Amino acid sequence: MLRADLMVVGLASVLLAVAQPPARLGAPAPDWTVETAGGERIKLSHRLRERKRDAVVLAPREGELPPRAALEESAGRLGERDADLLVLPPGEAAEGVDRPAVLLVDAGAVLRRIENGRLPAGKDLGEFIDEWRLGRDVFLTACARCHGDDGSLQICGDVKPLTGIGNRLTAAQVYERLRPGVLGENDVLIRGRFHKRKEVEAVVVFVRGL
Ligand code: HEC
Repeated sequence: MLRADLMVVGLASVLLAVAQPPARLGAPAPDWTVETAGGERIKLSHRLRERKRDAVVLAPREGELPPRAALEESAGRLGERDADLLVLPPGEAAEGVDRPAVLLVDAGAVLRRIENGRLPAGKDLGEFIDEWRLGRDVFLTACARCHGDDGSLQICGDVKPLTGIGNRLTAAQVYERLRPGVLGENDVLIRGRFHKRKEVEAVVVFVRGL
Protein backbone atom coordinates (compact mmCIF):
# COMPACT_ATOMS: atom_id res chain seq x y z
CA MET A 1 0.00 0.00 0.00
CA LEU A 2 2.62 2.46 1.12
CA ARG A 3 4.87 1.35 -1.72
CA ALA A 4 2.13 1.94 -4.27
CA ASP A 5 1.56 5.44 -2.90
CA LEU A 6 5.23 6.20 -3.15
CA MET A 7 5.27 4.96 -6.71
CA VAL A 8 2.37 7.24 -7.64
CA VAL A 9 4.14 10.22 -6.06
CA GLY A 10 7.35 9.26 -7.84
CA LEU A 11 5.63 8.94 -11.19
CA ALA A 12 3.82 12.26 -10.75
CA SER A 13 7.06 14.07 -10.09
CA VAL A 14 8.65 12.55 -13.20
CA LEU A 15 5.69 13.69 -15.30
CA LEU A 16 5.84 17.17 -13.77
CA ALA A 17 9.50 17.42 -14.63
CA VAL A 18 8.89 16.49 -18.27
CA ALA A 19 5.53 18.03 -19.26
CA GLN A 20 5.83 21.56 -20.58
CA PRO A 21 2.95 23.99 -20.98
CA PRO A 22 1.73 24.59 -24.54
CA ALA A 23 3.49 27.22 -26.62
CA ARG A 24 1.61 30.52 -26.51
CA LEU A 25 2.47 33.85 -28.11
CA GLY A 26 3.40 36.58 -25.65
CA ALA A 27 3.94 34.02 -22.85
CA PRO A 28 7.17 32.57 -21.45
CA ALA A 29 8.51 29.95 -23.85
CA PRO A 30 8.21 26.37 -22.52
CA ASP A 31 11.57 25.22 -21.22
CA TRP A 32 12.24 22.70 -23.99
CA THR A 33 15.47 20.85 -24.46
CA VAL A 34 16.96 22.32 -27.62
CA GLU A 35 20.06 21.78 -29.72
CA THR A 36 22.59 24.36 -30.81
CA ALA A 37 23.78 24.46 -34.43
CA GLY A 38 26.82 22.48 -33.26
CA GLY A 39 24.60 19.71 -31.83
CA GLU A 40 24.93 20.48 -28.12
CA ARG A 41 21.77 19.68 -26.11
CA ILE A 42 20.76 22.31 -23.61
CA LYS A 43 17.70 23.69 -21.79
CA LEU A 44 16.26 26.69 -23.61
CA SER A 45 16.12 28.78 -20.41
CA HIS A 46 19.74 27.98 -19.67
CA ARG A 47 20.86 28.98 -23.17
CA LEU A 48 18.94 32.27 -23.09
CA ARG A 49 20.32 33.16 -19.68
CA GLU A 50 23.82 32.38 -20.90
CA ARG A 51 23.57 34.28 -24.21
CA LYS A 52 21.17 37.09 -23.29
CA ARG A 53 20.01 37.51 -26.87
CA ASP A 54 17.01 36.66 -29.07
CA ALA A 55 16.84 33.14 -30.49
CA VAL A 56 15.27 31.68 -33.61
CA VAL A 57 14.15 28.10 -33.02
CA LEU A 58 13.65 25.71 -35.93
CA ALA A 59 11.17 22.90 -35.27
CA PRO A 60 11.61 20.26 -37.99
CA ARG A 61 9.71 16.99 -38.32
CA GLU A 62 11.52 13.67 -38.23
CA GLY A 63 13.92 13.50 -41.19
CA GLU A 64 13.74 17.23 -41.91
CA LEU A 65 16.68 18.40 -39.84
CA PRO A 66 18.90 20.52 -42.10
CA PRO A 67 22.48 19.26 -42.52
CA ARG A 68 24.94 20.43 -39.89
CA ALA A 69 26.81 22.69 -42.36
CA ALA A 70 23.58 24.48 -43.30
CA LEU A 71 22.74 24.98 -39.63
CA GLU A 72 26.17 26.45 -38.96
CA GLU A 73 25.73 28.82 -41.89
CA SER A 74 22.33 29.90 -40.56
CA ALA A 75 23.77 30.34 -37.08
CA GLY A 76 26.43 32.63 -38.54
CA ARG A 77 23.84 34.70 -40.32
CA LEU A 78 21.84 35.14 -37.10
CA GLY A 79 25.02 35.79 -35.15
CA GLU A 80 25.57 38.89 -37.32
CA ARG A 81 22.20 40.05 -36.00
CA ASP A 82 23.17 39.28 -32.42
CA ALA A 83 20.73 36.36 -32.33
CA ASP A 84 21.05 32.63 -31.73
CA LEU A 85 19.97 29.65 -33.83
CA LEU A 86 18.48 26.68 -31.98
CA VAL A 87 16.73 23.50 -33.04
CA LEU A 88 13.77 21.87 -31.29
CA PRO A 89 14.63 18.24 -32.03
CA PRO A 90 11.87 16.16 -33.66
CA GLY A 91 11.74 13.93 -30.56
CA GLU A 92 11.04 16.81 -28.15
CA ALA A 93 7.29 17.05 -27.46
CA ALA A 94 6.10 20.62 -28.03
CA GLU A 95 2.38 21.19 -27.67
CA GLY A 96 1.14 24.16 -29.67
CA VAL A 97 3.92 23.85 -32.26
CA ASP A 98 2.72 22.48 -35.56
CA ARG A 99 5.89 21.14 -37.19
CA PRO A 100 7.59 22.12 -39.40
CA ALA A 101 7.67 25.53 -37.77
CA VAL A 102 9.95 28.40 -36.91
CA LEU A 103 9.75 30.33 -33.64
CA LEU A 104 11.21 33.48 -32.19
CA VAL A 105 11.99 33.60 -28.48
CA ASP A 106 13.28 36.94 -27.25
CA ALA A 107 16.19 37.48 -24.88
CA GLY A 108 13.72 37.63 -21.99
CA ALA A 109 12.50 34.07 -22.85
CA VAL A 110 9.09 35.20 -24.16
CA LEU A 111 7.70 33.48 -27.25
CA ARG A 112 7.15 36.25 -29.82
CA ARG A 113 6.53 34.62 -33.15
CA ILE A 114 5.45 31.22 -34.48
CA GLU A 115 5.14 30.38 -38.15
CA ASN A 116 3.95 26.97 -39.13
CA GLY A 117 4.68 25.16 -42.36
CA ARG A 118 8.20 26.34 -43.04
CA LEU A 119 11.80 26.01 -41.96
CA PRO A 120 13.48 29.11 -43.33
CA ALA A 121 17.17 29.19 -44.19
CA GLY A 122 19.55 31.79 -45.59
CA LYS A 123 18.06 35.18 -46.34
CA ASP A 124 14.56 34.14 -45.18
CA LEU A 125 15.88 33.28 -41.77
CA GLY A 126 17.42 36.75 -41.40
CA GLU A 127 14.14 38.27 -42.60
CA PHE A 128 12.21 36.31 -39.97
CA ILE A 129 13.92 38.17 -37.14
CA ASP A 130 14.49 41.48 -38.99
CA GLU A 131 10.76 41.81 -39.65
CA TRP A 132 9.84 41.32 -36.00
CA ARG A 133 12.47 43.85 -34.92
CA LEU A 134 11.27 46.38 -37.50
CA GLY A 135 7.76 45.86 -36.12
CA ARG A 136 9.04 46.59 -32.64
CA ASP A 137 10.59 49.89 -33.82
CA VAL A 138 7.34 50.89 -35.54
CA PHE A 139 5.32 49.95 -32.47
CA LEU A 140 7.50 51.98 -30.11
CA THR A 141 7.37 54.99 -32.43
CA ALA A 142 3.75 54.93 -33.54
CA CYS A 143 1.66 52.82 -31.17
CA ALA A 144 3.22 52.74 -27.69
CA ARG A 145 1.98 56.22 -26.75
CA CYS A 146 -1.55 54.78 -26.55
CA HIS A 147 -0.94 51.07 -25.97
CA GLY A 148 2.19 51.22 -23.76
CA ASP A 149 5.63 49.86 -24.69
CA ASP A 150 4.51 46.29 -24.02
CA GLY A 151 0.94 46.72 -25.31
CA SER A 152 -0.58 46.14 -21.88
CA LEU A 153 -2.04 49.62 -21.34
CA GLN A 154 -5.71 50.26 -20.89
CA ILE A 155 -5.49 54.05 -20.96
CA CYS A 156 -9.20 54.51 -21.38
CA GLY A 157 -12.20 52.19 -21.38
CA ASP A 158 -12.05 51.39 -25.06
CA VAL A 159 -8.33 50.64 -25.47
CA LYS A 160 -8.01 46.91 -24.88
CA PRO A 161 -4.66 45.50 -23.77
CA LEU A 162 -2.91 43.92 -26.76
CA THR A 163 -1.20 41.32 -24.58
CA GLY A 164 -1.74 37.81 -25.90
CA ILE A 165 -3.69 39.08 -28.93
CA GLY A 166 -1.81 36.73 -31.29
CA ASN A 167 -3.47 33.74 -29.63
CA ARG A 168 -6.97 34.96 -30.45
CA LEU A 169 -6.53 36.87 -33.72
CA THR A 170 -4.86 35.95 -37.01
CA ALA A 171 -2.52 38.37 -38.76
CA ALA A 172 -5.32 39.36 -41.15
CA GLN A 173 -7.66 40.09 -38.24
CA VAL A 174 -5.06 42.20 -36.43
CA TYR A 175 -4.46 44.13 -39.67
CA GLU A 176 -8.18 44.88 -39.97
CA ARG A 177 -8.34 46.17 -36.41
CA LEU A 178 -5.69 48.75 -37.21
CA ARG A 179 -8.46 50.27 -39.32
CA PRO A 180 -5.98 51.14 -42.06
CA GLY A 181 -6.75 53.70 -44.69
CA VAL A 182 -4.97 52.40 -47.77
CA LEU A 183 -3.52 55.21 -49.83
CA GLY A 184 -1.50 53.55 -52.52
CA GLU A 185 0.75 50.66 -53.43
CA ASN A 186 3.19 51.48 -50.67
CA ASP A 187 1.59 53.74 -48.12
CA VAL A 188 -0.93 52.97 -45.41
CA LEU A 189 -2.52 55.51 -43.08
CA ILE A 190 -3.06 54.39 -39.49
CA ARG A 191 -4.48 56.83 -36.95
CA GLY A 192 -3.20 59.88 -38.76
CA ARG A 193 0.25 58.52 -39.52
CA PHE A 194 1.68 57.27 -42.81
CA HIS A 195 3.48 53.95 -42.91
CA LYS A 196 5.19 51.91 -45.58
CA ARG A 197 3.34 48.68 -46.29
CA LYS A 198 6.39 46.71 -45.15
CA GLU A 199 6.29 48.51 -41.78
CA VAL A 200 2.62 47.71 -41.33
CA GLU A 201 3.20 44.02 -42.06
CA ALA A 202 6.04 44.08 -39.56
CA VAL A 203 4.01 45.77 -36.83
CA VAL A 204 1.28 43.15 -37.24
CA VAL A 205 3.91 40.44 -36.70
CA PHE A 206 5.19 42.26 -33.62
CA VAL A 207 1.74 42.94 -32.15
CA ARG A 208 0.82 39.25 -32.40
CA GLY A 209 3.72 38.46 -30.08
CA LEU A 210 2.83 40.98 -27.38
C1 HEC B 1 -4.18 57.55 -30.49
C2 HEC B 1 -4.11 56.29 -29.76
C3 HEC B 1 -3.76 55.04 -30.55
C4 HEC B 1 -2.67 54.83 -31.36
C5 HEC B 1 -1.53 55.79 -31.71
C6 HEC B 1 -2.75 53.44 -31.79
N1 HEC B 1 -3.87 52.86 -31.26
FE1 HEC B 1 -4.42 50.92 -31.49
N2 HEC B 1 -6.15 51.28 -30.55
C7 HEC B 1 -6.52 52.48 -29.97
C8 HEC B 1 -7.87 52.38 -29.45
C9 HEC B 1 -8.65 53.50 -28.74
C10 HEC B 1 -8.33 51.07 -29.75
C11 HEC B 1 -9.68 50.40 -29.41
C12 HEC B 1 -10.83 50.96 -30.15
C13 HEC B 1 -10.60 51.10 -31.58
O1 HEC B 1 -10.38 50.12 -32.32
O2 HEC B 1 -10.57 52.27 -31.99
C14 HEC B 1 -7.22 50.43 -30.45
C15 HEC B 1 -7.28 49.13 -30.91
C16 HEC B 1 -6.22 48.46 -31.48
C17 HEC B 1 -6.22 47.05 -31.84
C18 HEC B 1 -7.38 46.08 -31.69
C19 HEC B 1 -7.32 45.41 -30.33
C20 HEC B 1 -8.39 44.37 -30.13
O3 HEC B 1 -8.27 43.60 -29.15
O4 HEC B 1 -9.31 44.29 -30.92
C21 HEC B 1 -4.99 46.78 -32.34
C22 HEC B 1 -4.49 45.43 -32.85
C23 HEC B 1 -4.22 48.00 -32.31
N3 HEC B 1 -5.00 49.01 -31.77
C24 HEC B 1 -2.92 48.12 -32.73
C25 HEC B 1 -2.28 49.35 -32.90
C26 HEC B 1 -1.01 49.50 -33.60
C27 HEC B 1 -0.18 48.37 -34.19
C28 HEC B 1 -0.72 50.82 -33.59
C29 HEC B 1 0.47 51.52 -34.22
C30 HEC B 1 0.65 51.37 -35.62
C31 HEC B 1 -1.80 51.49 -32.87
N4 HEC B 1 -2.73 50.56 -32.48
C32 HEC B 1 -1.82 52.85 -32.61
C33 HEC B 1 -5.70 53.58 -29.82
C34 HEC B 1 -4.52 53.78 -30.51
